[in-house]
Amino acid sequence: MTHHPRARIYRGTPRNLVHLAGALRRGELVAVPTETVYGLAANALDARACRKIYTAKGRPATDPLIVHLHSLDQLPSVAVPNSAALRLAKKFWPGPLTMILPKNASIPDAVTAGMPSVAVRMPRHPLLRRLLKLSGLPLAAPSANQFGCVSPTSAEHVRDGLGRQIRHILDGGPSTIGIESTIVDLRQPRRPRLLRPGIITKAELEDVLGVRVYSLPSGKSSRSSAQLAPGMLKRHYSPKTPVKLHRKISHAEVRRHPLSEAWVFLARPRHLTGRNIFWLAPNGDLRRAARHLFHRLREVDAQAFVQIHVERARGQPTGLATAINDRLRRAAASR
Ligand code: TXA
Ligand code: MG
Repeated sequence: MTHHPRARIYRGTPRNLVHLAGALRRGELVAVPTETVYGLAANALDARACRKIYTAKGRPATDPLIVHLHSLDQLPSVAVPNSAALRLAKKFWPGPLTMILPKNASIPDAVTAGMPSVAVRMPRHPLLRRLLKLSGLPLAAPSANQFGCVSPTSAEHVRDGLGRQIRHILDGGPSTIGIESTIVDLRQPRRPRLLRPGIITKAELEDVLGVRVYSLPSGKSSRSSAQLAPGMLKRHYSPKTPVKLHRKISHAEVRRHPLSEAWVFLARPRHLTGRNIFWLAPNGDLRRAARHLFHRLREVDAQAFVQIHVERARGQPTGLATAINDRLRRAAASR
């Protein structure tokens, strides 16, 4: 494989955006900010460009990509929408919701891993929206990390992981949501299925759709669920240091372990400090915890700890705690 010089990080000036839109039209890869995590984008109508994404990430060809749109007018050229999808789009787009729909013939197999369905989302990040508009293209983009690693929530994270594989990174600041979009399968509009929990919860989807939304068995990657959502491997988003998940961490337990082990609490613990003590959000607020989750995992992983202990989020079983715990479970799944 050819190794490019280190990737360049671009600020979102009008000139840079025109330059990057040109690169996308020429079939090059551009890492882009989104409100969820950074994505690695290519022209979704160009099979050759999309295949470069798999090479750069080391992603198996069986794991399909999400197509990002600028406007609802583009949807019929990518997918076959139904009224349930249009209702959700009206409520949640632009935003962190991805829908699985039958694909339009214009979408190459390289995007969908050969499946007859396609994942679509309209992102909210203003710089990406401008780039989508300037390029005039639907953009295929998975998260901009090496396959299996923690998703990137800043331009620097992207450069750390893919700096030698790609040339262009658009800097849009830290991702404000911090975990990947909610994915809902709407191929059978009366039997929607939640494939990946996110900040838009199952209850919110049910509210808009007026029907029950089914979930995959959580945390398990049974054969059937792997087929339903090919990317939903059990081990994903993983730091290099082993991660152990706890329902609750007591201070006594922390004190029984050596300082070479790190402890990540949801909220800032009282009466416990040290260079091996971390938290996701000072007051335990779940939105903040989601925003900081991947950044914190990377930060702790970069230090020389031999073990990372993480406390699970508590909360409504259909809410944001579910999405956070889903990512934590994958981080902790053994190699
Ligand atoms: O927030 C996000 O969704 C971010 C940003 C960049 O938009 N993207 C993202 O993509 O997280 P990533 O790396 O998770 O990959 C897309 C996932 C696949 O792993 C797979 O689970 C699911 O989307 N997916 C894509 N196409 C699908 C399809 N046709 N059927 C079922 N699942 C699909
Ligand atoms: Mg990913």
